Amino acid sequence: MSSTYTASITAPVNIATLKYWGKRDTSLNLPTNSSISVTLDQADLKTTTSAMASADFTKDRLWLNGEEDLQLSQSKRLTQVLSSLKEKRRLREAKDESLEKISSWFVHIVSVNNFPTAAGLASSAAGFAALVVCIAKLFELDDDMTELSKIARQGSGSACRSLFGGFVAWEMGSLADGSDSKAVEVCPLNHWPEMKACVLVACADKKDVSSTSGMQLTVKTSDLFQKRIDEVVPERFEQMKKSIHDKNFALFAELTMKDSNSFHATCLDSYPPIFYMNDTSKKIVKLVHLINAFYNETIVAYTFDAGPNAVLYYLEQNELKLMSFIYAMFKDLNGWETKYSTEELNKFISN
Ligand code: PMV
Repeated sequence: MSSTYTASITAPVNIATLKYWGKRDTSLNLPTNSSISVTLDQADLKTTTSAMASADFTKDRLWLNGEEDLQLSQSKRLTQVLSSLKEKRRLREAKDESLEKISSWFVHIVSVNNFPTAAGLASSAAGFAALVVCIAKLFELDDDMTELSKIARQGSGSACRSLFGGFVAWEMGSLADGSDSKAVEVCPLNHWPEMKACVLVACADKKDVSSTSGMQLTVKTSDLFQKRIDEVVPERFEQMKKSIHDKNFALFAELTMKDSNSFHATCLDSYPPIFYMNDTSKKIVKLVHLINAFYNETIVAYTFDAGPNAVLYYLEQNELKLMSFIYAMFKDLNGWETKYSTEELNKFISN
């Protein structure tokens, strides 16, 4: 048996606080607007990917959550990502004679998510980020994360942001070849370590309109969309980066909620309309505004991706204040578990 190469890594989910919605180039995944996200703690939502290259393999193969993806060769995005990485390795081999010529070998990839796949919890972001970083490690590439983000972007746009921890921007760029459409760090997580996220799973089913087809329907049919990309998002992009730099939670939260609402409004304004949020999602929106009004301070923000599940952002010092409300609302659901005692949870809303 000839030699094999292996690599294994984990990649976290990122949830956009300023949403990417719309492609100006569908094959290169170039967006119609820049976006910002927060990369969630790896302990909670993550993809673990392992890869092996061997001269004995006869084709590229991928197993996702224990099942082989038999359509791999038909997935344009996956094959595009794999061939870009193989090409980078081939260029290294051409420069360095001592390197084994593994760029022509096939790879086997095993990828597992520890959370529902395709339910609007950014599984494709973590998945493609993990794939790119894992294969880059396997091929011993020396590209930095921004450079690799351009490849991850071609798999799934939002994946480019999962290559960084903390607060991340995807700069849309303006070049036709996509070479300036890349992820950059806004601030590392330790700049604002008090920032926490809580995911409320309203429904773990797979979404019925994929983000790719949903966003292109919006681009083609929504009247609100043009204003969003020309005026609303460019201004919000700068304001949101500043709110992160200044650790201004109230502003960050307001921009995050407004942007989630604006994105879902363009979905509703598409024809036929797209509904990602359900009745539970709408109750969560009301609850968050009620909580902020109750405390007379913005302590929590919601955001919804292309699905009904909410991600709430808050500062650690306000966790109990927030959890008191979540507890009051959802304590009768199965599987309720919390690190707080019932007395603690009742402290704020019973008096
Ligand atoms: O990266 P995609 O194609 O799965 O699209 C992601 C779109 C949103 O999650 C709704 C927004 C975003 O910026 O992540």
